[in-house]
Amino acid sequence: MCGIFGIVKEKEENLGPILIGAAERLTYRGYDSVGMATISGDKIDLRKDVGKVDTVAEKFNISEMSGQRGITQLRWATFGAPSQVNAQPHLDSDGLMVGAHNGNVVNNIELRQQFIEEGLTVRSENDGETCVHAVERYLKRGYEIIDAIRLAYGDLAGDYAFVLGQANDDKLYAMKKGSGLVVGIGDDFTCLSSDLPSLLPLTREIIRPQDGEIIILSHDQVELRSVTDGKIIQRESEIITESMDAVQKGGYPHFMLKEIHEQPQVARELHHLLDDSSELDSIVDKMRNARNLYLIGCGTSYHACISGSVALAQIAGRAAIPVLAPQFISQFAPTVNHEDVGIFVSQSGETKDVLNALAAAEVKGMTPFGIANVIGSTLTQFTNSCLPLGCGYEISVPATKTFTNQVFIFLYLAHKMAGRDLDELAGIPVLMEKTLAMVAPQVEELASTLENVDDMYTLGYGATFPIALEGALKLKEITYAHCEGMLSTEFKHGPLSAVTENYPIIFVAGKEDIPLIISGINEVTARGARAIVIGPDDERLRANADDLIVIPDAEEQISALLAVLPLQILSYHMSVARGVDPDFPRNLSKTLTVD
Ligand code: M6R
Repeated sequence: MCGIFGIVKEKEENLGPILIGAAERLTYRGYDSVGMATISGDKIDLRKDVGKVDTVAEKFNISEMSGQRGITQLRWATFGAPSQVNAQPHLDSDGLMVGAHNGNVVNNIELRQQFIEEGLTVRSENDGETCVHAVERYLKRGYEIIDAIRLAYGDLAGDYAFVLGQANDDKLYAMKKGSGLVVGIGDDFTCLSSDLPSLLPLTREIIRPQDGEIIILSHDQVELRSVTDGKIIQRESEIITESMDAVQKGGYPHFMLKEIHEQPQVARELHHLLDDSSELDSIVDKMRNARNLYLIGCGTSYHACISGSVALAQIAGRAAIPVLAPQFISQFAPTVNHEDVGIFVSQSGETKDVLNALAAAEVKGMTPFGIANVIGSTLTQFTNSCLPLGCGYEISVPATKTFTNQVFIFLYLAHKMAGRDLDELAGIPVLMEKTLAMVAPQVEELASTLENVDDMYTLGYGATFPIALEGALKLKEITYAHCEGMLSTEFKHGPLSAVTENYPIIFVAGKEDIPLIISGINEVTARGARAIVIGPDDERLRANADDLIVIPDAEEQISALLAVLPLQILSYHMSVARGVDPDFPRNLSKTLTVD
């Protein structure tokens, strides 16, 4: 998740320290490269590279940069590897304009090709540069800057926010389409940023632009215009009174809760990204024709692999073997060859267990693909193609939004392989929003009744089996209680003996499996257990369950995906009630780079 910041002063000043400070405040979003540009009169000074803010700042003497306007950008690679040329900001062909964006321009590749054919100088693979040329092409055709931005907005597909400045001007221009952008008003300056926390040390007076608005910053004035007709939009500024910590967490008490609530938006953005991916056809083709197809990961990512395996079988009729990465080495690597395909799944792209499995697969000539959140990570470099999860930085140790986007990618691959309409998945973000709104109060209440429980089970079947496993992992990871996820039908083969009065068992019910789940419920309630059910609004479930958490009605695979949301919320509230910090549970780390 990239970050941008821009500032406009009345006259030329030393802007380096301000740009470095803003960049440092944006680092929590995750980044691989950093860049700064200052503009004064006809001079644009651009300095950028791969690396940490302090390293790049020292290497390029950023603290001495001066200008009347300044832009900084932190890049989290999606289009183009992390490199100096792909780092942002970017110049136009003639070095008269400089700009940077955050988000994803999903028709980047097509637009770059058009710009090259039109004779513009395209230097990088990065979509931030595409934003600059998208405006430049209309300036070259004689349009004024505002009209050029309006036309560029129509050409640039995806979710992004974008800032640019021209030589021989005194303003910065920005536009917002689906990504965060906040404007700040100071005593003798105006500024903007991808998020509120990075503005707060400079000013507490802010304006929140909406999608489809162009922002024109002068040192003493902020103007908003509609991208549709160019007309001025009136918007009052507001004063922020909350603390910095509260603002960084987006108003949520913990990053985990913030990330849970980000899931609809990152799923929406991922759908756009996948729709425009140039790699998907060949990946799907290789998957379809593989002798054996393996889905390989650890922890939460492994649960996504099981979901993927169920989706590929049920939707596309393609068998795929989900494997825990270390077990792949001993159980499958001896048997694989060049006819096999492996999809290695990892949020961090650095999990040692996964990289070991990748190395073992490569020795045998297997074709490796990846799914990762951190672009530029080892996994993205050593797989033939690696699909991005597009979640931005996931701070909280328990994975939430990266799990749902992993499952989303597998659903997408399965639909594509089956030749099904990919728009069938377009409703998922709204269904997620609906689920969060429907379940949140009831689940919080439920958590208060389970606060002192030290032992429980989560059970699922078919598409909900991996969801039960994932729910159990979330619960044990941040509550420190024992929780085991299982196939519901396995419970009678042993664990049933653990059941005593009020013993909590959470069933995740798919609508196709209700009769089977009801048998499971009665098996345990007959022995005194408390059956908590997550599933569709169904009379049979209502009659048999002690508690029913209703999720929206949806197709089987999508319904399973939605069912993980109440489990995430339950684990979050139980964790807080038990005095654990859900963001940073003891003994765990976000990235496991050891065997
Ligand atoms: O970065 P990865 O997806 O490869 O990490 C794998 C596991 O370590 C990770 O999913 C872990 O289980 C999570 N903390 C669970 O919330």
